[in-house]
Amino acid sequence: MIQPIKWKGDHILILDQTKLPEHEKYLICRDVESVIDAINRLAVRGAPALGVIAAMAVALEAGNIKTDSFREFYQKFTHTCSRIFKTRPTAVNIDWALERLKYIVLKNRSKGIHKLKKLLVQEADSIYREDIATNKLIGQQGKEIIPDGASVLTYCNAGSLATAGYGTALGVIRAAAESGKKVFVVACETRPLLQGARLTAWELKKDRIPFTLITDSTAGYYMKRKGAGLVIVGADRIALNGDTANKIGSYMMAVLAKMHGIPFYVAAPLSTIDQNIKSGADIPIEERSAREITHIGKQRIAPEGVTVWNPAFDVVPARYITGIITQKGIIRPPFKRNIQKALAGC
Ligand code: MRU
Repeated sequence: MIQPIKWKGDHILILDQTKLPEHEKYLICRDVESVIDAINRLAVRGAPALGVIAAMAVALEAGNIKTDSFREFYQKFTHTCSRIFKTRPTAVNIDWALERLKYIVLKNRSKGIHKLKKLLVQEADSIYREDIATNKLIGQQGKEIIPDGASVLTYCNAGSLATAGYGTALGVIRAAAESGKKVFVVACETRPLLQGARLTAWELKKDRIPFTLITDSTAGYYMKRKGAGLVIVGADRIALNGDTANKIGSYMMAVLAKMHGIPFYVAAPLSTIDQNIKSGADIPIEERSAREITHIGKQRIAPEGVTVWNPAFDVVPARYITGIITQKGIIRPPFKRNIQKALAGC
């Protein structure tokens, strides 16, 4: 299985996704600075992977804190958390993972700094392992919705690279293929940073799952001319009414799917549901640099000085979503009620 993140005790290895598909090169991160830089450059990306790397980075940095005072330790620990929290504001899994670490520290505050450092490493490791197990369950829950011989359109990269391993949307596709079904994937390239063309295509090729790559603007014509059995995408944050933030362009795919009568599914762990957010209108949307639009790699493609708007995500309204595939089953409309049901006992 592709391993985008590896914990190595005194450092973390991150498979540098900016170098894929040409080079499979790991970055060595020994401190929080290098992890923050990797997150900002999208060397590591995808909401669940960001939760895992956030936890590992905080555990790593906590190990470097030199003090016997809980007060000082906690102040430095929370400072690191808030620095990582700010990196990718839409990906709720960062906040979710950091809250887990904060809980561990506060619950065990009387046990001494040395023990706290060990517990943080253990918790980060649990988050990592649970993510892989959760994705495999999502795959098992979701594979039933893929008919044998179906073509599945996916957007961005919600595969192994976007998680600790196996993937969410791609995990469902993988599980269907592993169960012996014939699956054909339609991968959208995903402008501006081409997570579909570079990363999803790389993963599918490695797994020998047949696919075709299309430009994002081909999706409508593809649905009209060739049809698609279903669409499956990942999620960066899901509101309590089912509205889902995902890579910019997901909204366009959902509208197209609706127009063509194609089911549109979201695959995500329950940790991607933000229990504090009632609707998509409240989801913070990250805006990224103009350079991602004006350049491809080092090559300028737009005239100098043009005005650019570059939101990294959009929100798919719940009414366009057929179901949310989670580790506990598929949540179907009415989402308000059924999301609460799924969360009960979490
Ligand atoms: O900007 P990115 O590449 O981090 O965006 C990633 C996505 O939009 C994914 O679809 C989402 O995080 C789910 S990944 C399992």
